[in-house]
Amino acid sequence: MSAPADLLKQAKAAFANAYAPYSTFQVGAALRTQDGEVFTGANIENASYGLSRCAEQSAVQAMASAGHRNIREIVVYTASVEPASPCGACRQILYEFGKSADLHLVSSSGEEKHFKVRDLLPEAFELD
Ligand code: THU
Repeated sequence: MSAPADLLKQAKAAFANAYAPYSTFQVGAALRTQDGEVFTGANIENASYGLSRCAEQSAVQAMASAGHRNIREIVVYTASVEPASPCGACRQILYEFGKSADLHLVSSSGEEKHFKVRDLLPEAFELD
């Protein structure tokens, strides 16, 4: 399996828009909904560091704000040697709308890792 080329291209475009002056670690994400719409997001940091937002969260906010609720697949792109793994908060945010989604992690070295969202968050929090 490899990351879908169109989503990778869009994740790289979002990466270029990352606002990461504090960490200097840019992240871009692009997701496709079950009905084929694509949404992107970048990490957006803040001088009040705790207000910074991850790329995956930005993409999910854009998707859900447009009325979509089901993620089919998502690509996360970073300029790292190893593909960056989503933080714990992003795993829970992705799980809400895409527990069965395919997650493709891609680095600028060309390395890729592939997971199902649910496999990265065993015992995810769910309300009964
Ligand atoms: N970051 C993401 O965008 N996604 C993650 O899953 C992990 C971390 C961002 C947050 C911050 O702007 C920078 O990477 C360094 O932590």
